[in-house]
This record gives sequence, structure tokens and C-alpha cells, in this order.
Amino acid sequence: MTTSSRKRPDDLRSHRWFGVSDLRAFGHRSRLRQFGYDAADWAGKPVIGIVNTWSEINPCHGHLRERAADVKRGVLQAGGLPLELPAMSLAEPIVKPSAMLYRNFLAMEAEELLRSHPIDGVVLMGGCDKTTPGLLMGAISMGLPAIFVPAGPMLRGHWRGETLGSGSDTWKYWDEKRAGRIGEDEWREIEGGIARSFGTCMVMGTAATMTAIAEGLGLTLPGASSIPAVDASHARMAAASGRRIVDMVWEDLTPARILSPAAFDNAIRVHMAMGGSTNAIIHLVAMARRAGVPLDMARFDAIAREIPVLANVRPSGQWLMEDFYYAGGLRALMGELRDALDLSCIGVTGQPLGAVLKDARVHRPDVIRPLSDPVSRAGATAVLIGNLAPRGCVMKPPAAAPRLLKHCGPALAFDSFDAMARAVERDDLDVTPDHVLVLKNAGPKGGPGMPEWGMLPIPKKLVQAGVRDMVRVSDARMSGTSYGACILHVCPESFVGGPLALVETGDRIEIDADGRSIHLHVGEEELARRRAAWTPPPPHYARGWGAMYSAHVGQADEGCDFDFLQGTAPTAEPEIH
Ligand code: FES
Ligand code: MG
Repeated sequence: MTTSSRKRPDDLRSHRWFGVSDLRAFGHRSRLRQFGYDAADWAGKPVIGIVNTWSEINPCHGHLRERAADVKRGVLQAGGLPLELPAMSLAEPIVKPSAMLYRNFLAMEAEELLRSHPIDGVVLMGGCDKTTPGLLMGAISMGLPAIFVPAGPMLRGHWRGETLGSGSDTWKYWDEKRAGRIGEDEWREIEGGIARSFGTCMVMGTAATMTAIAEGLGLTLPGASSIPAVDASHARMAAASGRRIVDMVWEDLTPARILSPAAFDNAIRVHMAMGGSTNAIIHLVAMARRAGVPLDMARFDAIAREIPVLANVRPSGQWLMEDFYYAGGLRALMGELRDALDLSCIGVTGQPLGAVLKDARVHRPDVIRPLSDPVSRAGATAVLIGNLAPRGCVMKPPAAAPRLLKHCGPALAFDSFDAMARAVERDDLDVTPDHVLVLKNAGPKGGPGMPEWGMLPIPKKLVQAGVRDMVRVSDARMSGTSYGACILHVCPESFVGGPLALVETGDRIEIDADGRSIHLHVGEEELARRRAAWTPPPPHYARGWGAMYSAHVGQADEGCDFDFLQGTAPTAEPEIH
């Protein structure tokens, strides 16, 4: 950007609060002085909001309190005034009934924090699953220059010489325990070894997927998303982000200038090459709608067919995010993908992607595989359509047992999570490995909040017989750390009367991952009869956030954003009286 188009101090948004000579500005400045600040701290300087999702109950962000100090150091070095603004922390394992219920809450909070305060540019700090899309959705809608500081993955887990991966190994050893192969003592040891530093899940879960997508979109410094949370490089990246955001304010480098349709395509390619979480589809659609970029599920499917999985990271692969960093990190993976990416896209550095990736190199080709020898040629995600999911559903073929990618079997259907959870523990359950487990009422409105119930547990009697995968169908989501032949996000959801609501035990369900189809073998007449007899379940909430959520949340194919938050209609700057 040329110097002539750079902002001047009087153009700053914060100037309206602090720079003018009137009664209100006197009040604003006297309140800055209350902090011990002087004009030298603010006059003519960009005010940088640091929206920090640190909390004492979110271990994924446990280091962000001190890391904010590194961001501030960078902001000060570059001549800005850093102000930390705490925002709701969505600890994925802790927040109930589902952190997804609050993603839009965080998005609204981030947007309105920025709008209502004298902020010129923002550093967004987070990384645990819903935090990344929540913060980015809010920042996109507000439109100020923004840079994302990913929390970074935690270190590898350890137990008796084994390397443990977040989530994935919890499920694995839980099944071993249910099958009677490990006892209470071993289970406790695993509990102490699986999460041994601050940071986000270190498998290719939603956190690693979404932070990579943020980088793929151009919203982080290059390489930022792969740095382990506790590595000294992480603090240096935080400080560098603080320095960079100050210049982004002067350059007026807003998300709107970064988030082109090509940037979203690049991010989807990154998602596929990472073998990323299915959750990313929902979040990317929501982010694109905020940015005014048309994006539907078909685009994911089209890109999945072109881009193989290169990241050999669990659950689809072998290694963990710490290894991925040592192998060169996301820059190296994007370097491998170079020919498939739009290299003219600019990110927060202002440089075209081609320049950013110039000397990117893979150091461990077993961890970041070359295009000629991918982890899986089947794309990371398949979008299936059919009479059971007229608006689509998704699955992750590389994480499923190959024999189940084309399958037809009788349904074993459950109306609620509790009924399903009780049934699968019964020794006399009438179920075979060919059955298709079906869970209803787990969608955006039904869950509520579309919980990560999609990896329905394999019935205990089958686990004991050695069965480790079955076809499972639901309108829920699934943790990115999960695996198996799980068909997710069935849309529209059963709670609002989607065809999933009409499935009965014994109906035959056919899926074909390659053919991208899902079919309920029940005649039209019978379906019409069931539809006429169907009554909607009672609403979950009479008041409060839940009622607002239920009234406004969209379906999975719409990104589960609120109807009134989508789009790019301008919101007026607040009056200052
Ligand atoms: Fe926070 Fe997995 S629980 S990233
Ligand atoms: Mg998760």
C-alpha cells in the first residue's frame, strides 16, 4: 500500500473518542489517565483491542493470559495502545450442553465489544474449537483490521511408552475398558497423561482444523497455527502479531480485503489436505456468509475430490500436531499444495500467498506427505445427498472402515441421546455389525446446539465381540478427534421434521460414500403417512439465550448462524454524545 493511502491519526476510529476537543472526549481521556496513562500513551496512536478468551476453566487457553503480554509488547513496539478485552471462553469439554450453543454468542460478543469501544484494530486470541469461528465471525462482521493469534496445540500425550492423542485415544481406550482389556488403574494413568500442557487438542480435531483454516484464509501470520502453545516461538509469534496489527490499521487492511472467494477456496483446500474435522464445513459456511461470499456444501465436495489428505495426523493418520510443527507446519503443507492454491490471495502480511510460501519446505515427508504419496486419495470430507438428507449430510471417508463406505443395513433408531446411551450397554440388544445406528433430535435446534454426539457408541456386546466400526447416522456433529463411519449433519434436522424424524427401527438405509448418496428404503406413501402422524417435540427453552438461539439458528447447510447476523448490511457506528 502506498504511503499516500495510509491512514492519518485523525482518520482513526478512536480519534472520535480521544482526539476531539469536546466535553465527552474530556471524559474519555480523563478515564484513560485513571489507568496512569498520559497523552504519550494514546495521542495519534491506533488503539488495539486484544480480545482474549483466557479463562481459568479453559485449559486450551490457559497460557493466553501471559501470552496477551507478548501481544501488548508487540503493539507498544509498533506505536499502538493495547487494551485487553476479555470475552467468553468456550472450553469444549466443559461447556454444556454444547459449546456450539454459544458460538454465535461469542461472535456477537466479539462484534459488539469492538463496535462499542474505541478500537482501531484487533488481535483475536483463542483456538479451542468454537472460539476460532466465533471470534472470526464477529471480527468479519465488525470489519476492523484483525489478526488471529491461534492458541496452539498442546504437547503430545504419553502413557507407558505410548503416545496419546486428545479425544481419539480417549474413545479408543474407553472401548478397551468396556471390552475388559484395561482396568481402572490404567484408565486413571491415561487420564493423567493425555493432556499434559496448556494448548488445544493435538490431533486433527476441530481446533487444529479451524486454526489452520484461519491461516489458510490469510487471517494469521504465516505459520502461526502450527506452533505448540508452550513453545517459545509461540510468544514470538504473539509479539509479531501485535506489531503487525498496528501497521494493518494504518494500511486499513480489513478482513473484507482478505476474504475473497479465492481465499475461501484456499481455506477449503487446506482443510481437505489436513484431513480436517467435519465441523469446519459448518463454520466456514457461517464465516463466508458473514463475508458476503457465496459458499455451499457442493463446493466442499468438489474441492474434496481434487485435494488428497497430506497431513499424516490422527485420527486419519499417525502423528500429532507437535510432529506436524517439526515437519514444517502449515506453511510446509501449503507449499506442497502450491499448484492447487490461488497464490495471488493476500493475508494479514499484505503479501501475496506466493511470496509467503516461497521457501516453505517439508522436513519430515512421513508427517506431511507429498502429493504423489498422500495419506488418502479420497478427500477428507464427502457430502452425501438423498431422500434421508435432502439438503445434505457429511462424512469423513478416511476415518471410516473401508468396508462401510458402501453399505445397506437395517436401522436401529433412537429418539434421544439418553435412550441410545442406555440401549447400547444392554447385553440383549437386538443388533448386528450390519445395523445402522440412527440418532434423532441432535441437530441445531434439537440437541440443542448440535452437540458432538455423532460418533454413537458401538453397542457393548459388539465391542466385546471385537467390532470397532459401524454405520451411524444423525443430525449431530462429531468431534474432529472422532472416527468411524459416521454420517453427520443430516439436514434438515429431525427436530424440525426433516426426513430423519420419520426413520423407524428396521427400515433399510443405504449409503454410498463414493456415489455421494444416502437413501432410506421406505416408500413415498408410507413416508407421507408417517409425516402426517409426526408431531414436533416441545421447545427446550421458554426464555433467555436458549429461546433466542432456538428462534434464530439456521440449519447445518446455512452454517448454524442466526438469521439476523448473516450478510453484510452495514451497522452504523455508535453515536458519541
Ligand atoms: Fe479445546 Fe479440544 S478441547 S481444543
Ligand atoms: Mg473437539
